[in-house]
Amino acid sequence: MKKIGFLGLGAYVPERIMTNEEWSQYVETSDEWITTRTGIKERRIAAPEQSTLDLAEKAARAALLDANLTPQEIDELIVATDTPEVYAPDTASYLQHRLGARNIPSYDLAGSGCAGFLQALDVARSRVSDERKNILVVGVELLTRLMNWKDRNTCVLFGDAAGSAVMSSGDEVSEILASAAGTDGSQSEILCLEVGGTRKPFTLERAQRGEHQNLVMKGREVYKEAVHRMAQVSQQVLAKAGVNLDDVALVIPHQANLRILEAVGEALNLPSKKLFINVHKFGNTGSASVPVALCQAREQGRIKKGDLVLLTSFGAGLHWASLLVKF
Ligand code: ACO
Repeated sequence: MKKIGFLGLGAYVPERIMTNEEWSQYVETSDEWITTRTGIKERRIAAPEQSTLDLAEKAARAALLDANLTPQEIDELIVATDTPEVYAPDTASYLQHRLGARNIPSYDLAGSGCAGFLQALDVARSRVSDERKNILVVGVELLTRLMNWKDRNTCVLFGDAAGSAVMSSGDEVSEILASAAGTDGSQSEILCLEVGGTRKPFTLERAQRGEHQNLVMKGREVYKEAVHRMAQVSQQVLAKAGVNLDDVALVIPHQANLRILEAVGEALNLPSKKLFINVHKFGNTGSASVPVALCQAREQGRIKKGDLVLLTSFGAGLHWASLLVKF
């Protein structure tokens, strides 16, 4: 059996840095509140002329360069995002054209929040074949464009970014040893944005009341579920692969907030040096968070050839997903 896994990785973060202090110009908050509750110190904000597609393209081109592939060599394209370029068609259509890829199947995996990228990798892994050798997966969010800048409960948490991976088969890939994912739709109401769909269509009156930006987030419940599910799905993946956590070199969880990350580490009984954290620099970047963290971990020399790396994520849905990779 041929190995299936990463042939290349890429990431992009916008240049503009927004600090916690700057948030206090917009809402009643403080660096102290944000730091103690979330560990976030700063986040990146896309330039006004940038849209989701621009971020996605940069991360995609970086992953293709890393894989030593041209856009014409991609056989399928998946974009995971909750902040698409337009409502329809999907961001993948725009990206296929922007990259100059062939007329390959391209589609979005939308609405699964921060779990989207790992879900998309899981789908891509199952679809790599002789016919579809290289599948480009992008996780991208431009959350700061669509969120409510007056809601202090949510606005300080997020940032913009994009990450990407080329999934392929062969001896040179970093092999995905196992994957696991799940959904609990009974809890969809604890983290959702319902205005704009058929339940509550977008109207002028709703827009004037700012409802189209009202992200419902029951913070404490989300927190508990995020910790429980990311720890649980990590254990499932390790069991599937027959691997002991002691043999894992690094765990890269979705960077929701520092307290969630530390609680996942505690639930897994993981030494803190094996937990990768960059949430202080970028905030929560949704489906971009895991691929951006993965690229940074590699750049910082935290991942060596032969290392086992566990990726785990959780998001709206509720969805969760995890992958074990051998580099
Ligand atoms: N600045 C100052 N005060 C604030 C802010 C802010 N930015 N945001 C909320 N508050 C206030 C609230 O209004 C509330 O005030 P009140 O008690 O007078 O009503 C109070 O702070 C709430 O404080 P705590 O109860 O101490 O808040 P908590 O410890 O629950 O922390 C937080 C809140 C950070 C949202 C936490 O619940 C959390 O991390 N939840 C997970 C949410 C998350 O990560 N969401 C991201 C999307 S989902 C995902 O990626 C998994």
